[in-house]
Amino acid sequence: MQKILIADNERFLSRLTEDFRFGPAEIAAMIGHFHREMERGLAGEPSSLKMIPAFVGRPTGAERGRFLALDLGGTNLRVLDVALEGNGKARIEAADRFVIPPALMGADGERIFDFIADSVKASFARHQTDRRRSLKLAFTFSFPVEQLSIASGKLIHWTKGFTAAGVEGRDPAVLLSEALERKDLGCIEIAALTNDTVGTLAAGSYADPSCAIGVILGTGTNACYAERMARIGRLAQPASSAGEMIINIEWGNFDKVRRNAYDLALDAASSHPEKQRLEKMVSGMYTGEIARLVIVEMVRQGLLFRGADPAWFATSYALTAEQMAIAAQGGDFSAPFGIGEVTAADQTSACEIFRIVSMRSARLAAAAIAAVVLWMDKDLAHRHAVAIDGSLFQKYPGFKNAMRSCLVELLGDGAARIAFMPAQDGSGIGAAIIAAVAASASAPSDCRTIK
Ligand code: BGC
Repeated sequence: MQKILIADNERFLSRLTEDFRFGPAEIAAMIGHFHREMERGLAGEPSSLKMIPAFVGRPTGAERGRFLALDLGGTNLRVLDVALEGNGKARIEAADRFVIPPALMGADGERIFDFIADSVKASFARHQTDRRRSLKLAFTFSFPVEQLSIASGKLIHWTKGFTAAGVEGRDPAVLLSEALERKDLGCIEIAALTNDTVGTLAAGSYADPSCAIGVILGTGTNACYAERMARIGRLAQPASSAGEMIINIEWGNFDKVRRNAYDLALDAASSHPEKQRLEKMVSGMYTGEIARLVIVEMVRQGLLFRGADPAWFATSYALTAEQMAIAAQGGDFSAPFGIGEVTAADQTSACEIFRIVSMRSARLAAAAIAAVVLWMDKDLAHRHAVAIDGSLFQKYPGFKNAMRSCLVELLGDGAARIAFMPAQDGSGIGAAIIAAVAASASAPSDCRTIK
C-alpha cells in the first residue's frame, strides 16, 4: 500500500514537472513573440505589451535635490525622504512603511488616496517634517498608467489585488493631490508620476550609467528600458528624433506563453481574468496560489497530508510566496493551515511542488529579460546592467541562481554580458531622481543619446 502511494506520488510529481516545463524551444519561441509584440506596441498597434512612453530618459547622475517619494506597490506604501547628492549617490533621510489594508484595495478609490495622504501626515509627524519648506513629491504608482507627461497620466486598468472603483481612466496624480488638499497637505507639489520599473531603472542608471533596464520581480512583475526616440512610432515626433526615452513595457500582460490547467484555473478565478497572463505565472502574488491549487489536487487524490481535510486549503491565496520560501529553507510552512502532523514525505513533496512552480517563474523572468536585452543589442555586443528589485528576486531562495542558469542555457558565454544589479528601494529613490530630471530637463530631447 505504502509503495503504491509512493509510486502514485512520484507519478503525480513527474507529470507536474512536465506541466511546468519551460524548455529551450519554448524560450526561443517566447523571445520571438516578445519581439513582435514589442514592435507592435511601439508602433501603437494592438499588442499585449503596452510599451508606454515614460516621457523621461535616464538621469545623468548629476541630479541633486531633496524629494519626498511615495511608493505604492502591491502590498505596502512607502514614504521616503530622499536626498540626491549629485554624484550618482542618493541618501534615504527617513523611511516609513505602511501596510495597505486589503479591504482598501477593493474599496472606493478616494479611500485609497486618503489612506496615502494620511500615511504622509503620519510620516511627517514622526519625523517632524517642516511643512513650510517647499515639498516636491515623486509618486511611484505601480500599475499600468498611460503617461501624458512626466507628472500626469491615466490608469489603464488595475492589476494585482486592486479593484477600487473610480480610479481606472483617471489621473492618479490628480487623485493624490485632491487627497493631499483634503488632508491639509496642499503645500506638496507632485513633480513626477512614475512606474516602479522606471524608478528602479533611474536608480540603477544614476549609480551605473551602463544600466538601461529596470525590472520588478515582487508582488507583480514588469520591466522598462531605454529606447531610441526614433524607434517609438506611437509618439508624434520628427522622423529624425535623437535621444532616448524610457519605455514601460508592462510585460506582466504578455500573453503568448503556454498555460497549464493550474494557470487557467487561477486566471478564471482571479479579479482580472485574461489580463496579466505572464504576471500570473511569475510574480509573488500568484506563485503561492498556483502551488495551493496543486496541493488541493494532491490532497484530494490522497497523495499528500493523508487524512487532512481538503477544506483547510480551500481559501484562495492562503498560501503565500513567503511561506514557500520558508519551506524551501527547511522551515514549516504548514502552521497557518492547521495541519496536525506533516510527515517528512509530505514536506519533501510540498518542497518539490514549490521548487517546480518557483523555478518556472524564475525561468520565465530570465527569458523575458533576455528578450529585452536582445531587442536592444541582438549580438550581445555590450555589457548590460539590469537593475532589479522585488521580494521574489531579493529573497526567494535559489531564484537568482535559477535565472542565471536559464540565461547561460540560452546565451552560453554571452550570459556573462548580462549583470543583475540588485536595486533595493530602487523604485522610491528612482522616483525622486525622475522628479529631479523633471525639474532640470524640459524636453525628452535633452536626454542623453543611447549608445
Ligand atoms: C503592474 C506594473 C508594475 C508591476 C510591478 C504590475 O501588476 O501592471 O505597472 O510595474 O506590477 O509592481
